[in-house]
Amino acid sequence: MQHEQHDEGDDGHDRAEDGRAHGVHRERLGHPDELSTTHPSRVGDLWQGGGMPDVPRPDQPQQPAQPQQPAQPQQAGLAPDAAGRGTAVVTGASSGIGAASARALAAAGFHVVCAARRVDRLHALAAEVGGRAVELDVTDDASVAALAEAVADQPSVDLVLHCAGGALGMEPVVEADVDRWRRMYDTNVLGVVRVTQALLPRLRESRAGQVVVMGSIAGSEVYPGGGGYVAAKHAVRATTETLRWELHTEGIRVSEVAPGMVQTDEFALVRFDGDAERAAAVYAGTTPVTAEDVAEVVVFVATRPAHVDIDRVVVKPVLQANGHTVHRPGA
Ligand SMILES: NC(=O)c1ccc[n+]([C@@H]2O[C@H](COP(=O)([O-])OP(=O)(O)OC[C@H]3O[C@@H](n4cnc5c(N)ncnc54)[C@H](OP(=O)(O)O)[C@@H]3O)[C@@H](O)[C@H]2O)c1
Repeated sequence: MQHEQHDEGDDGHDRAEDGRAHGVHRERLGHPDELSTTHPSRVGDLWQGGGMPDVPRPDQPQQPAQPQQPAQPQQAGLAPDAAGRGTAVVTGASSGIGAASARALAAAGFHVVCAARRVDRLHALAAEVGGRAVELDVTDDASVAALAEAVADQPSVDLVLHCAGGALGMEPVVEADVDRWRRMYDTNVLGVVRVTQALLPRLRESRAGQVVVMGSIAGSEVYPGGGGYVAAKHAVRATTETLRWELHTEGIRVSEVAPGMVQTDEFALVRFDGDAERAAAVYAGTTPVTAEDVAEVVVFVATRPAHVDIDRVVVKPVLQANGHTVHRPGA
């Protein structure tokens, strides 16, 4: 029977009948922390004459257009290593989209540093792709600092792909577990902030530094039960766009890949506290995007010429209209 089924999660996940799902609770998203970064604001530069030279002050007469040179990436950087495209650091590489992206980036010529908490998986993946494994908890400042230290001997760090993240639960906002919201924010948002801060000096050395963030359509849509995940992915999108503004004069590219429903082994399982039946139902009767499909998009974004920035790519199953409307012809 063919029908439209509503009340789906942004990534196609059924809305919880009861937010307190049973089953094994998998504490996968780390611990709360506070955002302590205090960037000197460059927003003021817009009105004070510094920075952002391509934006005229509103009280200045327009100058005749000058021939534009494309933004030049850093020229003084180290050469990419022997792999050809330089080094890519991939967070969340132990499963799903991160693992598939690590494989695809390696196939595209990157030397890949695979980072996540489950190092046994990382070692296997690193051996497979000829890369390196580094233990990383993106919610832990010391662990992030150790990542930066671990890649200090890489000839360059040219790409940081942020895949560490995920969702916890589907409770309505009024029933939200605040600690889960905090952990989702810490991993999805502050994880991107911490790792970017730690590796930015290396990206600045690169000839073509690039940050690619795994966002979600949950960063631009809302849906009932999306709650803390939707809020976190909106913040991921806002952070990514802000970062692009702040880095564009340095020739560092900042991109978001925003998938809809992707069938991975663990995303829904983690969201529903290990309830395999409920996790499987997310993908029942439809054809989701695969982690490999998303990885192909990541490679496309990561292999454009240095002057080309792909701001945001949305990649969804054909059968998914939006975050909570999925066609299930096989149901
Ligand atoms: N699947 C979807 O439908 C979908 C759709 C849109 C966006 N996304 C986003 O895509 C990303 C990957 O999702 P996925 O489907 O591949 O899920 P997944 O298989 O559950 O992968 C999540 C990854 O994040 C890592 N991770 C979680 N917490 C971490 C922490 N504190 N420190 C370091 N690594 C951590 C996990 O590794 P360890 O547990 O080993 O640390 C794992 O490798 C997430 O950001 C997710 O929000 C997924």
